[in-house]
Amino acid sequence: MPVVAVVGGQWGDEGKGKIIDLMAQEAEFVIRSQGGDNAGHTVVNPLGEFALHLVPCGVFNPEAVCIIAPGVALNPAILIEEIDRLQASGVSTDRLLLSDRAQMVMPYHLLLDRALENQRADDPIGTTGRGIGPAYGDKVARVGLRMGDLLHPDTLEAKVRVAVQRANGSLGSMGSSQRADVEQIVKAYQGYAQRLGPMIRDIAPMVSQAIARDASILLEGAQGTLLDLDHGNYPYVTGSSCTVAGLLQGVGIPPRAFSRAIGVYKAYSTRVGSGPLPTELLDATGEYIRERAHEFGATTGRARRVGWFDSVVSRYTVAINGFDAVALTRIDMLDEMSSVKLCTAYELDGERLELPPSNLDLHARCQPIYEELPGWRKNTRGTDRFEDLPKEAIHFIQRIEALLGIPVNLIGLGPERSERIMRQPLWPLASG
Ligand code: IMP
Repeated sequence: MPVVAVVGGQWGDEGKGKIIDLMAQEAEFVIRSQGGDNAGHTVVNPLGEFALHLVPCGVFNPEAVCIIAPGVALNPAILIEEIDRLQASGVSTDRLLLSDRAQMVMPYHLLLDRALENQRADDPIGTTGRGIGPAYGDKVARVGLRMGDLLHPDTLEAKVRVAVQRANGSLGSMGSSQRADVEQIVKAYQGYAQRLGPMIRDIAPMVSQAIARDASILLEGAQGTLLDLDHGNYPYVTGSSCTVAGLLQGVGIPPRAFSRAIGVYKAYSTRVGSGPLPTELLDATGEYIRERAHEFGATTGRARRVGWFDSVVSRYTVAINGFDAVALTRIDMLDEMSSVKLCTAYELDGERLELPPSNLDLHARCQPIYEELPGWRKNTRGTDRFEDLPKEAIHFIQRIEALLGIPVNLIGLGPERSERIMRQPLWPLASG
């Protein structure tokens, strides 16, 4: 039963898009089940370079059915823009389906996102501004609109009217001068209904049939485990569950049907927005990696904070997700360094910690304990076999395997689909 999840093991931006694009070539279904257009998956393949925010990366496999599942917060305006861009590049979106249970991101969610951030101006989350937190907030408060509402124009207006009244009340109480407009929203969403209506359906029967016949299903994670609402660095987290369990829940796949979890990690750390990053490099080395690796957000263009690989938080995210294997990306970005560091543990008040403290104030006070390894100072791009990597790079990867206790099955050495070393198949073998 090959249901495989690809999940970020750090703070997002680990290079999941590349891995999912690669694995999607063998998938019958590729499913996004959490997050929204706060995600930015960069994919470089023979069709071109794409930044996807909502459409699953499986869209480049003309045989795969792509699904946006109930757990996603879906902004229909952004989805339509993305579909238009893909179609203009000759990529078919005919096999894209949208769950009628998915929450809709509404224009007032974007206004509320901004107002909330302004309200906590001294200590912002650093959100992407895509309305994701407020949209999930409405879901939990059970006042959200769902994609299925687009199919019922008779009741849509009444629902929007109630929701706008509530949202405008909140905006007023937060001191925002912005207000949402019922007529504008209804008109726009009626247009989205025309365009997206044929793709919207109850996906549950299709998913359970796919599971029953052992179809290969790829679950596409967005963000990363340290941004998970429950398990991440709360409150500096996103609004959804970015873990393997969160992905299963977001589609409605029984845990029993699940086969395998791939954790995607970058060879160093990056984080956009606020929150702890104990290995952060606030010096020329950090600046060098940021520039060389072009560490700027795919969604917001913001400069990403950069640090060394942190095996303390990574050990934690391996445990939370039960990863079977690691896909380690962007090794080539360290090619020119004379030495590289791995954080093996933290020191806090004279004590050695192997796992991160749950309390953020303590987390922020942790001092990383580093192991310094010799750099390889050779170009690794174009290498196809693990044995052909410089011995220092092999050592670096083997140290990560030892520190995390699971194998590194794929090594990314460049943005293209083909630029990787595959040590073991990422899909389970037929008997797996
Ligand atoms: P939100 O998801 O826009 O509410 O942002 C909450 C936090 O998650 C902020 O620190 C964002 O920078 C971060 N975040 C959200 N989506 C992504 C992503 O796809 N990659 C990296 N960081 C993200």
